[in-house]
Amino acid sequence: MPEYLLGIESSCDDTSAAVIQDGYLLSNVIASQQVHKEYGGVVPELASRAHEQNIVPVVSQALQKAGIGPGDLSAIAFTRGPGLLGSLLVGTSFAKALGIALDIPIIMVNHLQGHLLAGFVKQHGKENRQPAFPYLCLLVSGGNSQIVRVDSPLEYTILGQTIDDAVGEAFDKCSKMLGLGYPGGPVIDALAKQGDPERFHFAKPQIPGLDYSFSGVKTSLLYFVRDEMAKDPAFLEKNKEDLCASFQKTLIDILMQKLVKAARRTGIREVTIGGGVSANSGLRTRIEETGRKLGWNTYLPELKFTTDNAAMIAIAGYYRYLNGERTSLDVAPVSRISDY
Ligand code: KG4
Repeated sequence: MPEYLLGIESSCDDTSAAVIQDGYLLSNVIASQQVHKEYGGVVPELASRAHEQNIVPVVSQALQKAGIGPGDLSAIAFTRGPGLLGSLLVGTSFAKALGIALDIPIIMVNHLQGHLLAGFVKQHGKENRQPAFPYLCLLVSGGNSQIVRVDSPLEYTILGQTIDDAVGEAFDKCSKMLGLGYPGGPVIDALAKQGDPERFHFAKPQIPGLDYSFSGVKTSLLYFVRDEMAKDPAFLEKNKEDLCASFQKTLIDILMQKLVKAARRTGIREVTIGGGVSANSGLRTRIEETGRKLGWNTYLPELKFTTDNAAMIAIAGYYRYLNGERTSLDVAPVSRISDY
């Protein structure tokens, strides 16, 4: 009998539902909330309201696209955290209600594990190349910057992580402060393609071990631009491509230096990336170049699996389902999870 599992993701500003059948993706519907654009960042209260409006149509569409009805489902995986509490409450409550109505189990998923396993979503008619265990994942998003060792779909060790801002935050905050728009990552990525990455240099942090820090480089860029603008008010407009290219290169250098160190220390040569920032074209190119040089097998998730999506929650939940895990109906979402 085929096993159909529904995944639900609502941790931030994307309402998403996906159906997988025995690990193969049948549908992945994402409603991205546009309401936040005019505020230059996600407004939690508006995000919760939009999730509440989107969740039923998004789930219905995911089932329809998968060609199944609710009664065909074997289980429901949902994001328990980390994320915005109000947003998580919508997905969690919906999963519980549907689980009760259909009398099927619910399975909580750590959002970050979803990103770490995004490469395991299998698709019919596509090459399904997956990293072998153990592998290293550079998990880079708006809320996290970590190097994680993955020993199995259920075993994770954080080798290093940011001690202050996440790298996605550095992209977003700098873009906002420079008036380039939101979300900053894609804007900076696009401008960087037309600029010279060697033109400007920004201070890189000296943090021991495998941890990261991104607040210093952010401040370095902002002070530099402020000082140059005092001399020439048109400096930003004239140099924004080179500024973005140089800033992006600095962030990628910082990320890669520790990733290379982690690969050396662990002897692991299976390397993947995940999270919203893994959509960055400069980072993707650099991982592949470095991998070729150092003999790594590198795995880049498809762009649609880099940002928040329910397919990754479904696959992470599927492994827990196979492991016999079931979540009690008194579960509550959590905005922070310090470990896996
Ligand atoms: O994983 P994600 O969708 O959401 C969470 O953080 O939960 O990541 C969003 C982050 C934002 O900071 C956004 O600016 C960044 O991913 N991002 C990018 C790119 N696309 C999205 N950063 C750099 N380059 C991109 N192309």
